Amino acid sequence: MDNINKQRMVLSGYQVCLKTLEDQDLEYIYKWKNDWGLAKLIKAYPLPIARYEIQEWLKKNHSDKNQIFLGIYLKDYVSIIGVIRLKYIDWISRNAELGIYIGEDKYRGRGLGKEALKLLLIYAFQEINLYKINLTVLESNASAIKLYKSCGFTKEGLLREQFWVNGKYENVLLMGLLRNEYKENLGE
Ligand SMILES: CC(C)(COP(=O)(O)OP(=O)(O)OC[C@H]1O[C@@H](n2cnc3c(N)ncnc32)[C@H](O)[C@@H]1OP(=O)(O)O)[C@@H](O)C(=O)NCCC(=O)NCCS
Repeated sequence: MDNINKQRMVLSGYQVCLKTLEDQDLEYIYKWKNDWGLAKLIKAYPLPIARYEIQEWLKKNHSDKNQIFLGIYLKDYVSIIGVIRLKYIDWISRNAELGIYIGEDKYRGRGLGKEALKLLLIYAFQEINLYKINLTVLESNASAIKLYKSCGFTKEGLLREQFWVNGKYENVLLMGLLRNEYKENLGE
């Protein structure tokens, strides 16, 4: 997959664009990675993370050929508001797992997450020719489930009492979007 030039990738929408992270974004990722409220929503554990660990983690993500890791920016191309990624890309079966978050509360519920996801789906299905996108989400995460359903994802399964959060085990939904469902969803 060497033909993917991650350095120059910019996907532009009306309100947001997706592009590779810059050095100055590190502080935001550091802040969000240590936001335990956010960690619970994205099924990460509330453990403290140091700056140098974030630096190394970002470097590793960037050089991983089976992952596309992008920042979600406002259309000034500078203000980062979240991240989105395709991980565990399987280049033979042509599927990948989606992850997304908007880091700051004030930017949530304004249609920005949906636009970012739509941009990523165009990239995933049209540019790198994936066949299917999978994801997992806490059953209690209503806004994320609504976002995924509105982009055509359907429920494929349920992992019972899978994730320890807020002092109890919670169910995790498995959701998926096939290439043809994505097309139907866009009315193509
Ligand atoms: C989940 C998340 C990415 C959605 O992005 P967003 O910008 O807030 O969502 P949008 O404004 O684009 O809305 C997308 C859909 O979800 C709905 N929605 C948004 N916030 C909602 C809320 N708090 N409750 C219910 N529905 C909500 C919108 O109405 C919209 O549906 P529609 O297109 O049918 O109108 C964002 O809220 C977020 O980062 N949350 C914290 C991290 C997280 O949960 N990540 C996902 C882990 S699986």
